[in-house]
Amino acid sequence: TGPETVSPTGAPTGAPQLSRGQQGEFLTTSTGARLHDTDHSLKAGERGPTLLQDHHLREKVMHFDHERIPERVVHARGYGAHGVFVGYGTASNVCMAGFLGDGVETPVFVRFSTVLGSRGSADTVRDTRGFATKFYTKEGNFDLVGNNMPVFFIQDGIKFPDVIHAGKPHPDREIPQAQSAHDTFWDFVSTHTEATHHVMWNMSDRGIPRSYRMMEGFGVHTFRLVNAEGETVLAKFHWKPKLGVHSLVWEEAQLAGGFDPDFHRRDLADAIESGAYPQWELGLQIMPDSPQQTFEGIDLLDPTKIVPEELAPVQPIGMLTLNRNPQNYFAETEQVAFHVGNLVPGVDVTDDPLLQARLFSYLDTQLTRLAGPNFNQIPINRPHAPVNDMLRDGFHQHAVHAGVAPYRPNTLDGGNPFVAKAQDRPLVEVAQPLPRAVKVREAPKSFADHFTQPRLFWQSLSPVEKEHLVNAFTFELGKCYEQAIKERELLVLAGVDATLCAGVARGLGLPVPATARLKKVTPSPALSQVGHTWPPDG
Ligand code: HEM
Repeated sequence: TGPETVSPTGAPTGAPQLSRGQQGEFLTTSTGARLHDTDHSLKAGERGPTLLQDHHLREKVMHFDHERIPERVVHARGYGAHGVFVGYGTASNVCMAGFLGDGVETPVFVRFSTVLGSRGSADTVRDTRGFATKFYTKEGNFDLVGNNMPVFFIQDGIKFPDVIHAGKPHPDREIPQAQSAHDTFWDFVSTHTEATHHVMWNMSDRGIPRSYRMMEGFGVHTFRLVNAEGETVLAKFHWKPKLGVHSLVWEEAQLAGGFDPDFHRRDLADAIESGAYPQWELGLQIMPDSPQQTFEGIDLLDPTKIVPEELAPVQPIGMLTLNRNPQNYFAETEQVAFHVGNLVPGVDVTDDPLLQARLFSYLDTQLTRLAGPNFNQIPINRPHAPVNDMLRDGFHQHAVHAGVAPYRPNTLDGGNPFVAKAQDRPLVEVAQPLPRAVKVREAPKSFADHFTQPRLFWQSLSPVEKEHLVNAFTFELGKCYEQAIKERELLVLAGVDATLCAGVARGLGLPVPATARLKKVTPSPALSQVGHTWPPDG
């Protein structure tokens, strides 16, 4: 057996335990010395001054002074719950991951979030919602870090800092704190027509969910699945809520934001506490793995595109039930660290340029947010699979590693740690013959169509949903100070649908842009640089 990794509490990994800070009956210092008084500092006489030698005072205040950690750079506002995932076994022909096996039960932790607001912002604002799931499988942690919308604003992760800078509050006034009703957001999306599809989802009723329990979830990217024979397919993950998809109406969202900014977290916690456990069915859209990585003319590496369910139906593969509230918000919901690179054998990434950047970003941000490289030892992040890594030391190292030294081959430690034998399951990576690499800084031509799918989305809405969408665009754009931004966004909407554009223009009290004018629009430098389709050709 390999050298043992000893957990600080000696407890099974994953589920948080009452910490060492709460053992025994009596109040102590952090080093276990019994305390008789924590209400008065030690002073030179009743009226002071306070003595520097009062170690308890200094420790208590010092620790309080350092209670805060940085909030997440995005998705700062969130709420989590524990649960269980049960596989149906239906995915076994396309994916070898053990947790998808028939009847296999896997503990999970899910964190729902808004994207743009700060940690203390309101729940019901118009925004995308995060839907991140950590599966503590026997083969290691698998993180499905998705959203409640199936598409994303940008096609390349190098634009992520830009879209978030545009979406976060203005740096001078720090407003608006959580909504998309401001100039920089609309400036960005009106000059990056690739964002149009995601914006349509945001402005639709999907942007103001009734409850986390009533949201769909999407892995967004196309993933590559591998079966036991080493055969591959391309696939998209979907979560379907048992309670159906429901939204607030805008007035409700605004009122709820005022009278109960914790509306969504209260709803989830109350439901779980009362035994009304929310459930989601996990499903897969499965597409053939071809060298082109397209399906029915849709580029599967473009995260601004969906594959319509009519073309690739969602096939159910398992059920998620959330059945336990966190015991401690900070220990669990705040310290949980999701990462799209946490994969298990059978699930692999594709070359989607957004996904590729995410593979770098999550580890990197957690290094700062959770202060050092050992955050996977925090109870909520610990795998339920045995860990025998060669990582050592570093800030907040809790493991007491045995053995001579972590290197391989090691003739002094009897060969520990062993690596998987050839006949064992292949590691996560799938050997793909690599084409001769050509280094380019440009988007593939197939990423250039920014309007077909937003139009498809518009056409899929019922009359009342269309009305809500027009109203949402009108409200949010109406908050822009710059007239030119509103006019530019109207041109984008004209590229989607004339009725949509006319409705928003009317709401804003602006003239409907003449289609003829579209042809005369000069591409902005940003647009021509990144090769966007402009003008929207409808
Ligand atoms: C956090 C989803 C794109 C960087 C999150 C979270 C979710 C999420 C759900 C919150 C996780 C939690 O609850 O702790 C997505 C989806 C994306 C996307 C679905 C696109 C399909 C990106 C990109 C980047 C990025 C392109 C960077 C290049 C981050 C960072 C965090 C985060 C830095 C904070 C993580 C932390 O502090 O632990 N994302 N994201 N995301 N995301 Fe993304």
